[in-house]
Amino acid sequence: MNKNIVVALMAVLAASASAQEVSVSKGRLRQGDDMSWAKPEMDDASWSEIDITKRWDDQGFPQNTKAYGWYRIHVNIPKSVFQGADQQNALILHIPKADDVDECYLNGKLIGSTGRMPINPAGYFPACNAVRNYVADVKGDGVRFDAENVIAVRVYNRGGGGGLYNNPLTITCPKAADGLSMRLTDTNVGQYHYDIEISNAYLTATNGLLNVTITDRETGATVKSLTKKLTLKRNKPVRVTVPYTMDKMCQLTVTYTDAKTGKVLSESRQLKYALTPAAPATPRFNGAPVWGVRPGSPVIYRFPVSGEKPMKFTCSDLPEGLQLTEDGVLTGKIDKAGDLTFTVTAENAKGKASQEFTLKVGRDMIGQTPPMGWNSWNCWGLTVTQEKVVASAQALMDKGLADYGYSYINIDDGWEASERNPDGTLDANEKFPSMKGLVDWLHERGLKFGIYSAPGATTCGGYLGSLGYEKEDADVWNKWGVDYLKYDWCSYENVRVEENDWGFASCVRPYLLMEKFLRQQPRDIFYSLGPLGGTQVYLWGLYCDGNSWRTAQDINDTWKSIYDVGFRQQFGKSQYSSIGHWNDPDMLVVGKVGYGLGENTDGLRETRLTPDEQYTHITLWTLVASNMLIGCDIAQMDDFTLNLLSNNEVIAIDQDVLGKQADRVFKDDNIEIWARPLADGSQAVGIFNVSDTDVTYDLKDYQPASNARIIRDLWRQKNLSQDERSWTIPMHGCRYLKLMY
Ligand code: GLA
Repeated sequence: MNKNIVVALMAVLAASASAQEVSVSKGRLRQGDDMSWAKPEMDDASWSEIDITKRWDDQGFPQNTKAYGWYRIHVNIPKSVFQGADQQNALILHIPKADDVDECYLNGKLIGSTGRMPINPAGYFPACNAVRNYVADVKGDGVRFDAENVIAVRVYNRGGGGGLYNNPLTITCPKAADGLSMRLTDTNVGQYHYDIEISNAYLTATNGLLNVTITDRETGATVKSLTKKLTLKRNKPVRVTVPYTMDKMCQLTVTYTDAKTGKVLSESRQLKYALTPAAPATPRFNGAPVWGVRPGSPVIYRFPVSGEKPMKFTCSDLPEGLQLTEDGVLTGKIDKAGDLTFTVTAENAKGKASQEFTLKVGRDMIGQTPPMGWNSWNCWGLTVTQEKVVASAQALMDKGLADYGYSYINIDDGWEASERNPDGTLDANEKFPSMKGLVDWLHERGLKFGIYSAPGATTCGGYLGSLGYEKEDADVWNKWGVDYLKYDWCSYENVRVEENDWGFASCVRPYLLMEKFLRQQPRDIFYSLGPLGGTQVYLWGLYCDGNSWRTAQDINDTWKSIYDVGFRQQFGKSQYSSIGHWNDPDMLVVGKVGYGLGENTDGLRETRLTPDEQYTHITLWTLVASNMLIGCDIAQMDDFTLNLLSNNEVIAIDQDVLGKQADRVFKDDNIEIWARPLADGSQAVGIFNVSDTDVTYDLKDYQPASNARIIRDLWRQKNLSQDERSWTIPMHGCRYLKLMY
């Protein structure tokens, strides 16, 4: 059949024109990539016909992983599309869902794109679920009325199924206020402020009224209110900056009302608030008074002390075999098992403080308190580099987090070379020019270094795993000076399935093997076990001498994940945790995270947790004696996150030397209470509102509080009077208390 007849038939069959809408569900597809396929005159007669409401792989086409495909949709746009419309100068093309990134050309001209293709200098960014409404300017974009138009859509599919799907392509004409949108961005460059951006994507300029209110969430008082008349021209967004301070718990509400149509845009955000009081300028020891080491292993311990710098450390009764630098880094080696107790003093211009400290030397002394530090995964994912690791380590010291005990700098997946050396050893890839240099640099500063691998042939990120080379890997890690190993599971499943062996013993086997080689090394390597399919590692982690094990699947920065990984999956697990063998509900998701796939050009994004949810996250994690591994880029950490992560009284709960993780002691539809006993005889209690509305709670209802001598609010570091013991706890928020008897 002649091509023109096919095109005409397709348009007649697939496009049904009503007064204000054209809808097309058929097009042509060619997998591959050629920019000339955007041109309207290109002959696509040999391309395959395709239904654009179903994925290409559901219609017999290959999935096309990490590859492109082009759709060409021929459509007749009748002039009658404008009948009764209040604007005649633009059309909106509603493109179906595109898996994962698209670019849309109308008669050869690019009119819109969503997500970022891998060739984009800002980096790949998938946007499969985004809504795609592209505006075509009738004059400028060359729309042809009562004639054929060619809409060419270039689609990039990263993995799994791909192509256009879900809806037909529809073309409508805009209503005056349809193109209005509002974007709120929280910024902390200089003072904290929200940038409010209102835009008009359509052609006609509109007027409206902007209303901004900041309300104190505790008192209901209006803290700030402003009203502004705006004129919005097409694609000329208007920006309004609203500064705020973090000393109150506030809510920002923004509305914009379009004058002509009365259409209202409205957004509301919880503002960040800082609860942790500033640390005193005098020295203050913030770490647990204990560290454990095996006989003969090198000691690396940096005393976490806040206060004005410079600060000088001394010790008059330092045991033989140990050295303490003036900067507070303890090194040395002790060959004999036993407890060594000595007093360390820190002094600065404002005063001095001392801590009686015990070095526990023995075979099972690694991990006396849960490890604290940083891991690259939740921020950088597989895009981690040596430079990024150094930036976070440097910021950990510069921003004072090292003064609160954060001391491990751990590289997750993505450091491994693509092939092993002829002798079986595995180097780092080109992103890590000198692993040994990096580790020496950290050790000189009293920080420790962690690495990642998996017992299977490949890691979860598809890099080389340790299968068959466990000894070689442990030996290399010792040479580099590794202090922490995160040993994941991932592809080991294949080994197990082949043997058709799903028993307990076969789960333990690869972890026992690595344990043997790790413990043979003349240094201490904290052994952190990754999650396995059904998260059962906690049942047998102890038998492999694991120092911690994941008790949940991977975390992400949403309330759903905090609820699931934290509240749901940590319940009932306290019996599996003990000193040196901790439950690990996964790394922290506060600050700028994103696994290297976030919307910002560096692959990060601000955590999607609200400030209340972030307080809840840290409260629960410290209660369950979790590993406290910061998951964000510390170099970009803001004051809010810093304040959240450096509350010495909150950290002291996580690091409590009794080592007893919290249990859930109460639950109803809204409230959960988790509590743990502490070494000094007091109790730490988290009262959480896990519901989706604000809830009042009166401490009278919590029996153990009735005979407490002092009730302390740990976040605010303040003893509570009798009339401060009943609160409205906001949705997903909490109260963190210490009950002293
Ligand atoms: C698994 C782990 C994550 C991370 C990735 C790396 O998913 O649970 O924490 O280590 O592997 O590929």
